[in-house]
This record gives sequence, C-alpha cells and structure tokens, in this order.
Amino acid sequence: MAGNVALREKRVKPDQFMDLVRRRRAVFPPVFTDMPIEEAWIAHLLEAANWAPTHRRTEPWRFHVFRGAGRQKLADFMVEAYTRITAPEKFSEATRDKFRLNALRSDTVIALILKRDPQERIPEWEEIASLAAAVQNLWLCATAYGLGGYWSTPGLIREVGPWLGLPEGERCMGLFYLGHYDMPEMPGQRGPVAEKVTWHMD
Ligand SMILES: Cc1cc2nc3c(=O)[nH]c(=O)nc-3n(C[C@H](O)[C@H](O)[C@H](O)COP(=O)(O)O)c2cc1C
Repeated sequence: MAGNVALREKRVKPDQFMDLVRRRRAVFPPVFTDMPIEEAWIAHLLEAANWAPTHRRTEPWRFHVFRGAGRQKLADFMVEAYTRITAPEKFSEATRDKFRLNALRSDTVIALILKRDPQERIPEWEEIASLAAAVQNLWLCATAYGLGGYWSTPGLIREVGPWLGLPEGERCMGLFYLGHYDMPEMPGQRGPVAEKVTWHMD
C-alpha cells in the first residue's frame, strides 16, 4: 500500500498529460524561427524516445541527428536524390526547393532509423510499432518544450539509408524536422473516440 501512495504522489497530473497530448501538432518548417534549440533539449528528446516500450527489449530505434553544417549536407542530398529519382514529367521545382528549405529552416533534423533485431525474435511490425512509440515520445517531449516538429515520410526516404551507409538490418523510416516556431496554436482535428471503441461489459 505504501508503495501505491508513493506512486500516486509522484504521478504526472492527468490533466497536464491530456493537455500535452492534445496540444501536440505537426508543425512545419516554413513557420520555424531562427532561434537555436539548446543541445540539452535535443538530448532530452532523444532520452524520451529511448524510453519507448519494446517487446523483448530489442530497442529497435536509432537516430542520426543533423545540426549546424550537417543540415546543409542533408539539404544537398535531398535535392540530389529528388532530382535523380523523379521522372522529368513529374519534377517540380517547388518540391525540390521544399526539400532543401525543410532541412535548412530546421534547427535539427533527426533521421528515424529502424534497427531490426538481428535474430528476428519478434515480427518486424512490432519493431516498427516500437519505433513509432519512440517518435511519439520525442514529439510529446518537443511539445513540452514548446518546439514544433513533424514526421516526414516522402517516397525518397528509401534513398536516405544508402546515403547514410546504414548497415544491413537498418532502414530509414522518416525524418523528424524540429525548430522553434512562430504560429498561433492550431486546434487538432479528430473524430470522436466513442465512434472507435467497442465496449464489452457484460
Ligand atoms: C508515420 C507518420 C508519417 C507522417 N508523414 C508525413 C508526411 O510525409 N508529410 C506530412 O505533411 N505529414 C506527415 N505526418 C504528420 C501528419 O500529417 C499529421 O500528424 C496529421 O496531419 C495530423 O496532424 P496533427 O499531428 O497536428 O494532429 C506523418 C505522421 C505519421 C504518424
């Protein structure tokens, strides 16, 4: 019993938690500002990601963090990859420029890497689920700091792994763009949860 009391005293206030969850938004680089993010904050975001649930504790998440001049290298690569893999009739200068500016307007970009259990003790989908939970932790932590960000998964994401020289069993599952931002708070949009729940009570 004493243990339960101690736990109750330490718990996060449920109202604050709900507020954080509801306020997390996808915030895009065009509204990012030039204000730098403290490196300690980025470390906290990664630490939060590292506490995601993980079946058999495979901890299948890895992160490549682009900051400073690293962002220019990423921007150059994204432009090169987009230009190379896009059919001429589908090529858009606006899309090419968006890939460049997304990297350059962000303070930090984090490549989200799935690291498959070498022994494949659990199905791949469980490890993807675990990586997604890690990203959610990171995203909520960013929200707590007042940072904006979003998980980006364009088709050319499959080019990122070879560019990074990822070893076999590792795959890039997206880029997370991060920055301070200047934009009024946006209300989220979700249908009522009641429409998505089936209760079994008797
Ligand atoms: C796995 C995953 C991939 C996503 N990929 C993209 C993307 O490529 N481009 C994009 O604009 N948003 C992407 N998003 C963000 C969603 O568009 C965003 O979460 C959605 O619009 C709901 O908005 P909210 O998160 O602010 O509530 C992705 C989200 C998830 C979970």
